[in-house]
Amino acid sequence: MSERDIERRWWKEAVVYQIYPRSFNDSDGDGIGDIPGIVEKVEYLDDLGVDVVWLCPVYDSPNADNGYDIRDYRAIMDEFGTMADWETLLDELHARDIKLIMDLVVNHTSDEHEWFVRSRVEEEGYEDFYWWREGRDADEVSWSAKEGPEGEAPPNAWKSFFGGPAWAYDDGREEWYLHLFDVKQPDLNWENPRVRDEVFDMMEWWFDKGIDGFRMDVINLVSKPDGLPNDPEDPFGGAMSQSTNGPRIHEFLSEMSERVLDDEYLTVGEMLGPEMPMAHARRYLDPDEDGLSMLFHFEHMLLDRGDAIWERGEWALSDLKAVFNRWDEGLEEVGWNSLYLNNHDQPRMVSRFGNDGEYRRESAKLLGTLLHTLRGTPYIYQGEELGMTNYPFDSLDEFRDVDTLNPLRNAIADGDVESFDAVKEVVRANSRDNARTPVQWSSDPNAGFTDGEPWIPVNPNYEEVNIESERRDDDSVWHYYRDLISLRSEYDVVVYGEYDPLFPDDDTVWVYTRTLTGEESDEQLLVALNFSDDEVAVGLSEVVTSDHATLLIGNYGDGGDGDAGADAEGELAAGDLHLRPWEARVYHHER
Ligand code: NOJ
Repeated sequence: MSERDIERRWWKEAVVYQIYPRSFNDSDGDGIGDIPGIVEKVEYLDDLGVDVVWLCPVYDSPNADNGYDIRDYRAIMDEFGTMADWETLLDELHARDIKLIMDLVVNHTSDEHEWFVRSRVEEEGYEDFYWWREGRDADEVSWSAKEGPEGEAPPNAWKSFFGGPAWAYDDGREEWYLHLFDVKQPDLNWENPRVRDEVFDMMEWWFDKGIDGFRMDVINLVSKPDGLPNDPEDPFGGAMSQSTNGPRIHEFLSEMSERVLDDEYLTVGEMLGPEMPMAHARRYLDPDEDGLSMLFHFEHMLLDRGDAIWERGEWALSDLKAVFNRWDEGLEEVGWNSLYLNNHDQPRMVSRFGNDGEYRRESAKLLGTLLHTLRGTPYIYQGEELGMTNYPFDSLDEFRDVDTLNPLRNAIADGDVESFDAVKEVVRANSRDNARTPVQWSSDPNAGFTDGEPWIPVNPNYEEVNIESERRDDDSVWHYYRDLISLRSEYDVVVYGEYDPLFPDDDTVWVYTRTLTGEESDEQLLVALNFSDDEVAVGLSEVVTSDHATLLIGNYGDGGDGDAGADAEGELAAGDLHLRPWEARVYHHER
């Protein structure tokens, strides 16, 4: 292990907790979570033991995409409170040694942002803040836009990630503007140095207010290639393949790094794309290049997905392992991994990768064990710490998300999908709204989230799955998460140990070691996870044996089952390790 690999950083040792404010806690009864609601729960976060909060957008926004369409970067959304409330939140977190990172959404703004309002009328200095283009002759293309002028097609064949063309026609300017996401989210033109100046000034403004870093929304899309070429191989006509990791991306990000970032900040870039070339990833994270702390890739999130929200693929454990193994190896000595299995854009992990029925508790703990014992920084998404599950959506009225509703409505209108019922099961499993139902605080009405009418339905299982009952029960997912979090500060090997996967092709168990050797320590973890409803035996005799290993943590809460190759005290002997359904065990030994 090189010197650099073991370079200590506070954010490598941290656990991040992600808050989606709209669904976290409502303090004023309007059915929408808010900042004072988060302040009420700071003590809760401290009890859980997390080190950092990542706050999804709380800026002023018309909410076409729940705050990812920003109207004013320096103001707080009315529904969420005031800047004074935000300052209170920062102070309360900092008073407990919890850091705060904000969401930076600068690939696009809202169409109601003053820059766009000015650009729309070609006000001097703002003409090129966004991507404006002339349309094409509709005869040149095989399809035409529904909203453009007669006989005119959008400038290219790019499709929005939220459905429909990636271009909208502006009647005033008589040109089309690019929006990779919703029509109300026009893409900023980073080619224009004034755009970059404005973005960097705004970042500086928030750093001056005392924040500890940024999560950067779809940041690898900000450089688009000259001529915006089409790509027939891309399901989005080129929007995805041409915009991701574009020609000037490293120039833009290293400029950002030089002008406004600091080593001590936590920066994590969300990076879209079906597969991230490792050479790009290393440049994003190399301290001598773009210098981000971490990135979020999507490779594991796409394993069970098709191109559309009503399509589904099969995932195998060996594929999931292969993604994590590739990233651990790929970033070695240069970068650091982020570890997540769900967030506000993904279904709940226990429903997706675990068993949210009979083994909900065991599998939620097992997935947590994985995230907290791989090499990287774990990100907990609100509600994950109690094993919250997907919502049993039954009709289109229950969804709120543009990314579910837009593509589905378009497809039904175009006849590509017969009806919602025809694709219900799959949409239900895939929708981002699964993550956005309110946090289940208690068995009180609306799960204790609000005294009013919640903006999105509460999962009906809240009477059974809620924080209050989890905290009362020592054997709960919540208590287990708390133990996992605290392991990080107790054992260096959990943070810095080298990761070595065993049995990479096995589709039932995930087994690996983490090893830390150095002047001060020589210790190892053995992690064994059974991803199935059946008992399995893992043949360990050839790989690891130790007569003085202790069971550090296990999700059956009983220190081993006697004949499992590890006795009640957790001694790990040569032979088979028997794992019960969804059992997770982590052994530790000094060598
Ligand atoms: C990624 C965000 O996480 C998602 O919620 C949002 O819809 C898109 N970027 C567009 O900002």
